[in-house]
Amino acid sequence: MAVIGIESSAHTLGIGIVENGKVLANAKAMFPISDKGIIPMKVADFHANNVFRLMRQALAAANLAENDINAIGYTKGPGIGPCLDVARVAAVSFSLIHNVPIFPVNHAVAHVEIAKAQNNFSNPLALYVSGGNSQIVAISGEKKKHYHVYGETFDIGIGNMLDSFAKEIGLKPAWGSSVAKLAENGSYIPMPYTVKGMDFTFTGLLTNAIKLAASHSKRDVAFSLQETSFSMLCEAVERALMLLGSNELVVAGGVAQSARLKEMLASIAKEHSIKFGFAANEYNADNGAMIAYVAEKMKDAGMHFLARQCSVSQRYRIDKVEIKWQ
Ligand code: FE2
Repeated sequence: MAVIGIESSAHTLGIGIVENGKVLANAKAMFPISDKGIIPMKVADFHANNVFRLMRQALAAANLAENDINAIGYTKGPGIGPCLDVARVAAVSFSLIHNVPIFPVNHAVAHVEIAKAQNNFSNPLALYVSGGNSQIVAISGEKKKHYHVYGETFDIGIGNMLDSFAKEIGLKPAWGSSVAKLAENGSYIPMPYTVKGMDFTFTGLLTNAIKLAASHSKRDVAFSLQETSFSMLCEAVERALMLLGSNELVVAGGVAQSARLKEMLASIAKEHSIKFGFAANEYNADNGAMIAYVAEKMKDAGMHFLARQCSVSQRYRIDKVEIKWQ
C-alpha cells in the first residue's frame, strides 16, 4: 500500500513515497535562491513546472507506476500560499484521476513525526525549529489528542533570524549553515538573552548582533549569536522536560541540521538521563517523504477527506491537528 507525498511549502519541492512506514523514494528539487530571497510567484512557477517530472522521478526510484499508489498526501501548511497551492492542485488532480484518497498534512507534524519514527520514540518532547517556527511541543489530550505548544517564539523563527543575520553581514549563501561555518572557533561576546518561562524572542538579539557586526569580528558575533539563541532554546526545553517528566527528546525541522544545537540538546538529555534523537538531515530539510509518512498514518487511522475539503493554510498551526494515530 504505497503512499506518495508532495511538499512545496517554501523553496524546496519534494516528492516522497512510503510503504508501511518505510521510505521508498525521497526526490527533491530546489528553487535557486538569489540575494532577492524568495519571490513567492517565481517559486510557485518553479514548483508547478517540476512537480510532475519529480513525481515520475520518485516513482522510478521506488520502482512503482502511478497505478501502484494507494493514497496521496500534500502539505496543507504552514508555508507560502502560492507555493502550497501547487502541491494541493497536483494532489487533488492525482487523487481524482486515480481515485485514491487524499490527505492534507501539517508540515510541522510531519517533521516531528518522522523524527519520532526514526528514533523509535513513543511520545517525546519535541523542539521544532525551522525558518518560520520555533516551538516546544508534545502530544497531549485524553480522547482528542493533539500537539500542545508548551513554548514558542514570540516573534520570528530561529531559522529566519540566522538567515537575516547572514544576509545583513553579506554571507553567501545567506543561510544559517553559513553562520555556523563562520562561527567556528569564535569567542563569546555577551548578548541580550530573552526567555520568558518556555517562550522566547529573537528580534532584539538579531538587531544587537547586526549592530555589533559593524564594530567587532564577524566570526565572534556569529559564534555569540548561535550560542545565545541556542542556549535560550535549551533553557526553555529543559524547563518543559521538567514540567512534563518526558523521557524522550527530539529536535526536528530545518535548524535541527545544526550540529552545535544537537550537541547542546544531547548534553541536557544526558544530564537528565533521557533519550535524545533526531532525524537524518535529509528529513530535517523539507522533503516529501515526511508528508507521505503522515498521510499513511492518517489513512491507517481511518481519516477521510473530500477533494473540496482540501485547502491550504499559510498559518496552519501544529496544535490545530488532531493526532488520531497516537
Ligand atoms: Fe520544514
